[in-house]
Amino acid sequence: MGIHFGVDYYPEHWPRERWETDVQLMKEMGVQVVRMAEFSWFKMEPTLGEFHFEWLEEAIALLDSYGIKTILGTPTAAPPAWIVRKNPEIQPIDREGRRRYFGGRHHDCQSNPVYRAHIKRFVTAFAKCFANNPGVIGWQIDNELGNSHGDLCMCTSCQQLYQKWLKRKYGTIEALNDAWGTTFWSQGYNDFIQIGTPMITAVGENPSAMLDWKCYCSDLIVNFADWQAEIIRNICPNHFITHNFMCFDNKVDYYDLAGLLDFVSNDIYPAGHWQKQPHQPESELAASHDVVRGYKKKSFWMMEQQSGMAGWEIMGRALEPGQMSAWAMQSVAHGADAVIFFRWRACAMGTEQYWHGILGHSGKPGRIYNEVKKLTQTFTKYMEDFEGSMPCPEVAIVHNFRQNYALDIQPHHPQLRYVEQLQKYYKALYDKKIPVDFVQDMDNLSQYKLVIAPLQYLMTPELEQHYMDYVANGGHLILTMRTGVKDANNLCMTKMELPGRLGMLCGIEVPEYDCLLETTGGVLYGKKEYQIEKWCDIITLNGARQIAEYSTGFYKQTPAITENKYGSGIAWYIGTEPGEELMEDVMTYITEVCEIETLGTAGDGVEMMTRESEDKVWLFVINHTNDEQIYHLHGRYTLLEGEREEALKPYEVQLFVGNKRR
Ligand code: GLA
Ligand code: ZN
Repeated sequence: MGIHFGVDYYPEHWPRERWETDVQLMKEMGVQVVRMAEFSWFKMEPTLGEFHFEWLEEAIALLDSYGIKTILGTPTAAPPAWIVRKNPEIQPIDREGRRRYFGGRHHDCQSNPVYRAHIKRFVTAFAKCFANNPGVIGWQIDNELGNSHGDLCMCTSCQQLYQKWLKRKYGTIEALNDAWGTTFWSQGYNDFIQIGTPMITAVGENPSAMLDWKCYCSDLIVNFADWQAEIIRNICPNHFITHNFMCFDNKVDYYDLAGLLDFVSNDIYPAGHWQKQPHQPESELAASHDVVRGYKKKSFWMMEQQSGMAGWEIMGRALEPGQMSAWAMQSVAHGADAVIFFRWRACAMGTEQYWHGILGHSGKPGRIYNEVKKLTQTFTKYMEDFEGSMPCPEVAIVHNFRQNYALDIQPHHPQLRYVEQLQKYYKALYDKKIPVDFVQDMDNLSQYKLVIAPLQYLMTPELEQHYMDYVANGGHLILTMRTGVKDANNLCMTKMELPGRLGMLCGIEVPEYDCLLETTGGVLYGKKEYQIEKWCDIITLNGARQIAEYSTGFYKQTPAITENKYGSGIAWYIGTEPGEELMEDVMTYITEVCEIETLGTAGDGVEMMTRESEDKVWLFVINHTNDEQIYHLHGRYTLLEGEREEALKPYEVQLFVGNKRR
């Protein structure tokens, strides 16, 4: 598409006289695209049916006269007050039965037919107005779908839709009673109309019902997006449609959502004010980009890349010189074709006054402006060359929203989080400079030398077979604690000892287990004792070889990690959560057995990543620290951008190109 850098722009926040200065400054900085209008419903329709798109047309024309294209956002994450006054029933209801009112954003119910009628009217007019506008290239549906208050809406409209969804899924109420195990605590239903949304209970909740609720909520969001996209698709067949995702966020199954988009976009705030550390660790950011690339198995856009200090009531850390550029190029290294910075200029009003941008409140170009300018001047030309290219990792980590939901419902250990668990495995590979793909469990795995499938908690006969076939045909698979515990309805498996048929694959059985709560445990691996956390599966060998044993608990000297040859492949079972050191050493061993290539060697804080086209490999070496660093590459590449090979200045990003090996 030839577009690689942009900004999120809110011309309506500033006087008309300022616009041209903004656009000139953008142009000089290297901006090729802006996103606009995703929160401007009131400006565009101040009263029912009275549309005012002139101001936006003017802004688009001005931008276009400087060669800057526009993406328009549908403003449906913030319906105006007049709609809410007219139809208060569109405001969502939370689990405690309270309404969430106007005054922030996301005060809407996505199933409500009255709200949908308002959207249909508005989006139709909006799309018609801009369908043939030469400055407009595409659309963002809504904004960060799923990013609302904690629970999705529990209103009567949502309840009715949920009942219908359940009826479609189960057919008969008897089937639902079986799937939810409603015999327990007298929870049986005679009819679908007796089923409510999961409002706050006196005590406890049904894990099977909760899993369906989360899946239903995801389906509702996907339906909401698809329904809006359809309106636009019909009117603007030449425009792309995308949506801004939030990394690993899980209110909606992003694989489903990605299906209806031309490409996926992502938002990332590495130094958000909510971060416990000054900023999110780079390995976690890298994993976020990799999972986003995986949602559609396609390169993506960054729709919001942090460009200034982040804050609402509380603020995060200021960005060090070069730090933001390193994060932006990290996005690119992992598959972003375009980076749009949030936001052009810090806003003088509203909740996000302190969510800073490229320009501060004064609007004067300063340090960050100059940094971005240098970035676009350096990298735009190369991004043109590798647009659409993808990393080609040898290792995949399995990621699945249903597992995430089930473990959110019952985390077992107070600190066990599905995504964090994936991140721990990811980090060990990241530190070794081994690129990773995220895949869904039933994807074709045969291209990967190693597949890591943590917490395969919900299991189906098809998935068991899929993993067994992968290994039988020469694949290397890591399974971990809590595998094969439940069926697809979140009911416990009863026919076999854990981990079910996968016990044959791994050559083990898991008749017992232990939750470590606030204690930690130990294992012996080689001659060393290591720390483990959270959980211990108590394993008996059934053909497998033990490679580590517990050194604590009544089960000490029993297997903690096992290895089993199966067909022409190998299956490892890791019955616990390895501490960082054990993770590192075990992953060194396993990646060596699998003959996985590493891109190079370097200290912590130096990242290496590649994107590949038919015949070329682009290699990125990124220094995420404020210190000088040295590194060494495995493989022959030519330096395209950078001061000096094998050495990095603080926050320096180097780019290499090489020939693809066949
Ligand atoms: C999100 C939203 C933006 C803005 C930023 C900063 O990513 O999409 O509208 O609110 O966060 O809070
Ligand atoms: Zn609702």
